[in-house]
Amino acid sequence: MHRWLYYKEAYSPRIVEHFLKLFNPKESVFDPFAGIGTTPLVAKSLGLNSTGIDISPLAVFVSRTKCANYTNSDITDAKTELKKMFKDRKEPSFKWDFELFSPRRFFSKRNYNDICFIRERCEQMENEKAGALFLLALLSSLPQCGFFIKDGGVLRLEKSKSAMPAKDAFKKKAKQIISDLETHNISGPEPQIKLADARTFCEGNYDCFITSPPYLNNIDYSKVYGLELSLLAMDKNASLKMRRESLRSFITKDAAKTEVPEEAGELAHKLPIIGEYFADMERVLENLYKTTEKGGALIVGNAVIQGNHIEVDEILGKIGKRIGFVYEIPLWMERIADVKPAKIKVRESAAVFKK
Ligand SMILES: C[S@@+](CC[C@H](N)C(=O)[O-])C[C@H]1O[C@@H](n2cnc3c(N)ncnc32)[C@H](O)[C@@H]1O
Repeated sequence: MHRWLYYKEAYSPRIVEHFLKLFNPKESVFDPFAGIGTTPLVAKSLGLNSTGIDISPLAVFVSRTKCANYTNSDITDAKTELKKMFKDRKEPSFKWDFELFSPRRFFSKRNYNDICFIRERCEQMENEKAGALFLLALLSSLPQCGFFIKDGGVLRLEKSKSAMPAKDAFKKKAKQIISDLETHNISGPEPQIKLADARTFCEGNYDCFITSPPYLNNIDYSKVYGLELSLLAMDKNASLKMRRESLRSFITKDAAKTEVPEEAGELAHKLPIIGEYFADMERVLENLYKTTEKGGALIVGNAVIQGNHIEVDEILGKIGKRIGFVYEIPLWMERIADVKPAKIKVRESAAVFKK
């Protein structure tokens, strides 16, 4: 199920398993940046309760769909629906649009029409769970059938790219999802997945957290996943709201005045994106301190901004220490930050914040 939608920012289920062993929660786990639900899905498979929040409606939809419980009759309904899906095909009334550019530029006319048709069919399905599974299959197949590639923080138009027919890409994915459910249907406590802002969400009581925040890399998820967001919501401007409420890890036009944590250093006053990032993360760490019994693990990468190497893990550690956590980095690896024209080695770490 972890493969149902490719999300570049997702981490491996193995890292979640590793930290669940370390923290040994008796009841519940929390992920304030749940993305496509890796933490809640692993927790569910181990019989643990979990809560995951995310600011992206796409991430929330994908997590919910992956983490839901499916009965045999849901799976049978999905198979029947898929068989009859393209019979008696009617013109869809839905016209897909997106705030930043027209999706028509990114797909052939035939693929554009097929995508609109499948989107509308998902909405009309009697069994809502089957509808959600097919919508996930459709969203997941978009990158394969469009003339674009996701290149860092942007969608790059590439007319020479060979695009798969949307109908075939969708059917292949839908069949894979059904087959995964037939062979690996995970039963367990259904996680709570909510659309919420990690800076203000301070509800519940959990044994520990396992999470990975957006990296300080100027990547705006609302743009990179804008096509999926607008198709999911059937709303041209779905990405706008998300952009305004996201953790400030990328440069926006309307920077608000921010009180910068002292641990962020001098540079954070000169380059607002750095100050904003650590100010937001300070609020998240404060909430995690209040809502977890044992603390947790945070996977994060260091950054290079305008040639300056920012040790994000160490700065977050110092902020965490001031809040009351005991902090260490038991695991890390080297990765390459592609800050064109240079490629610089930075660290990606699993930082542990214990109480
Ligand atoms: C590195 S990804 C997490 C990926 C996740 N670990 C997984 O395996 O799918 C960071 C996530 O933080 C979310 N995010 C950004 N700002 C947020 C905010 N203010 N509150 C909650 N989530 C936010 C993004 O939408 C993104 O899904």
